[in-house]
Amino acid sequence: MRSSFGKNLKVSIWGGSHEPAIGVDIEGLPLGTEIDMDELQAFMDRRAPGNSPFATKRKEPDVPVAKGGVEGDGLLKVASDIVSFEIINTDTRSADYKALAKVPRPGHADYTARLRYGDQLNMAGGGPFSARMTAPLCIAGGIAKQILAKQGISINAEIYSIGGVKGDAMEAKILEAKEALDSVGGIVEAVVTGLPGGIGGAMYDGIESTLAPILFGIPAVKGVEFGAGFKAADMLGSENNDPFYYDENGCVKTRTNNCGGILGGITTGMPLITRVAFKPTPSIAREQDSIDLETKENTKLVVKGRHDPCVVVRAVPIVEAALAVGILDCMMELDK
Ligand SMILES: Cc1cc2nc3c(=O)[nH]c(=O)nc-3n(C[C@H](O)[C@H](O)[C@H](O)COP(=O)(O)O)c2cc1C
Repeated sequence: MRSSFGKNLKVSIWGGSHEPAIGVDIEGLPLGTEIDMDELQAFMDRRAPGNSPFATKRKEPDVPVAKGGVEGDGLLKVASDIVSFEIINTDTRSADYKALAKVPRPGHADYTARLRYGDQLNMAGGGPFSARMTAPLCIAGGIAKQILAKQGISINAEIYSIGGVKGDAMEAKILEAKEALDSVGGIVEAVVTGLPGGIGGAMYDGIESTLAPILFGIPAVKGVEFGAGFKAADMLGSENNDPFYYDENGCVKTRTNNCGGILGGITTGMPLITRVAFKPTPSIAREQDSIDLETKENTKLVVKGRHDPCVVVRAVPIVEAALAVGILDCMMELDK
């Protein structure tokens, strides 16, 4: 299956969790653009599960292999209109997923995927709905981050809260859920600095209108807000408006940033701030109610396999990747 994003920077992700490989085709990068593969690998490693008690036990080295459109070794240069990378899937245990074709996991895409695509779609490991598909997104996002960094733009995300708590209590919240054979969700906050004012456009060309779809494309995302977000609905105009002023260098700034650096879909030049809400991991080890799609009876399900007790931990670089692709796409509109 293939899924595509972008108007100027077109990113097309293909494959499935337990297929031989997954990959990404990137269209629109200027010829001669440099890609530092060591830096890209370091970014990919931030997403990989490793041995963290907060992540799945699945081992995914996630090494991007260039398949076309680039020249060189180590420091690659874009040499064609389409740049392609793939990642070989190495650690798959499809047997863990056989039963789920018949008895769908509550909270996962097993049931709706079958409604939409029928029962022949390879759903092992979550198929094209798996978080595995965010590895190719991180290739495109890692490259976009490198390009943006050269223009003085940096994108930094961090965990904002887990299961409603902040700070030191977050780790305990995940371990508590794991021990109870359960899972927990949370929020990632990202700040983009160095972004010039004047990026974006009216209505569907707006920066929020561009970023929201790519953020919602990340599995388990159930909410996206910019600046004060949903809290703005409870504020007075006098509280929510961000007063303008000239700083000592004559640059236009705002005293507060409730708009999250965006007015009318166009960047103000203040930091762009977004928060992304992730639901708890659907695959939990405790018994749940479900249905048997073959016998058409109600049944019980205990999900097996290796799952993240909290997806938020690994989602941080994924949010950065999605934002980098979306922002670069908006910036390339200005070059047209
Ligand atoms: C980094 C990351 C890791 C994830 N790991 C798992 C997992 O181990 N088990 C699982 O059931 N879902 C996991 N998910 C969530 C599912 O992929 C997602 O909930 C599912 O595809 C249904 O899509 P939806 O939640 O967007 O509706 C993960 C999501 C992310 C972003």
